[in-house]
Amino acid sequence: MKDLNIGLIGYGFMGRAHSNAYRKVNQFFKLGYRPVMKAACARDGAQITEFADNWGWESVETDWRKLIARPDIDAIDICSPNVTHHDIAIEAAKAGKMVLCEKPLAMNAAEGRAMVDAIEKAGVANMVWFNYRRVPAIALAKQIMDEGRIGRVFHYRAKYLQDWTISAKVPQGGATLWRLDIDVAGSGVTGDLLAHSIDTAIWLNGPVEAVTAMTETFIKEREVQGQPGTLKPVGIDDACAFLVRFRNGSIGTFESTRYARGRKNQNTFEVNGENGSVCFDLEDAHRLQYFDHGDVSHLHGWRDLLVTDSDHPYMGHWWVPGCVIGYEHTFIHAVADFLTGLETGVAVQPDFRCALQTQLICDSVLESARSGQWVKVPEA
Ligand SMILES: NC(=O)c1ccc[n+]([C@@H]2O[C@H](COP(=O)([O-])OP(=O)(O)OC[C@H]3O[C@@H](n4cnc5c(N)ncnc54)[C@H](O)[C@@H]3O)[C@@H](O)[C@H]2O)c1
Repeated sequence: MKDLNIGLIGYGFMGRAHSNAYRKVNQFFKLGYRPVMKAACARDGAQITEFADNWGWESVETDWRKLIARPDIDAIDICSPNVTHHDIAIEAAKAGKMVLCEKPLAMNAAEGRAMVDAIEKAGVANMVWFNYRRVPAIALAKQIMDEGRIGRVFHYRAKYLQDWTISAKVPQGGATLWRLDIDVAGSGVTGDLLAHSIDTAIWLNGPVEAVTAMTETFIKEREVQGQPGTLKPVGIDDACAFLVRFRNGSIGTFESTRYARGRKNQNTFEVNGENGSVCFDLEDAHRLQYFDHGDVSHLHGWRDLLVTDSDHPYMGHWWVPGCVIGYEHTFIHAVADFLTGLETGVAVQPDFRCALQTQLICDSVLESARSGQWVKVPEA
């Protein structure tokens, strides 16, 4: 088995999710590579040392440029906020390192294009962590659609709803609330949440041709975190709804907000085809709803598939049928797929170019919201 030395940047939510994945992956998947947790990096030396001790990283750095320059690092894993992705990814590619980057790929498509150019010029292995492709029930939806079971698709309907920014007292910026600061996040729910819905949609239902959108910013000014009394205009989209024309002739609706009281992380989609439908809700992640019009008519009805059998995607690596797995496993699956790609030479998806396509759709959505016009989505 070959070692793959990882250098991870960022110790927040995703730093933890990825660390957990590197620790577990070889226990559950037979692979030709073993990720070695070589170094973790962040600006705050005390915090990153505590994080590294907790998760088992061998060393720490406080400057990502030094991390990239280290000859003992093979792959850079970017788990820091969106504004950092572009510079780190390009520098890592130039140094010949593999790059695994959190979503969204970049602040905008212009940055994303420069990143794709650098990665492809360097010819390094790469992946963007759109982890919902690795939910077994979503992968099963993909299998059902690829098998032609629901037939020609007419409708794609996605929602991604949260409720944590309703209070005007929530500040913006700083270490923990950078998602509300346009200068660090690039956009609001469009890049943060709808990027996930879009990645899933293009994976399941193919390319998007055009979009028309509206966005709203409900709270116009927020205090800057750590600077009591300093108000700054809110530049992000708090909510976004858009219509889509897919290349395959189907039409779609997408909605996202952080103002849906009671919804914590409701990521759903439903696809309606000529012969059947599939429906998924992340808050019930081990289930897939499936309707088959081919059933005898007196048995027509939605099937509630518990996606835990060993012949369901990924599930053969886990427990016995009926035992569910969770959110953190999607990251373990992503690492396993990335390492399998290194071994087989078949590049893992979504790679940077694929994630640029999602970024182009996000940019088109925001452009349409500004102009009030339909926008044709450019090719990545
Ligand atoms: N794949 C997913 O489902 C998923 C889920 C959450 C976040 N993400 C992505 O992962 C990345 C990190 O998000 P997170 O939730 O782990 O963040 P987090 O808020 O939990 O942690 C971010 C870390 O970055 C540091 N930081 C904050 N502002 C910074 C800045 N301006 N420059 C440099 N460092 C800064 C913070 O100190 C903190 O250590 C983002 O790109 C985000 O979109 C992806």
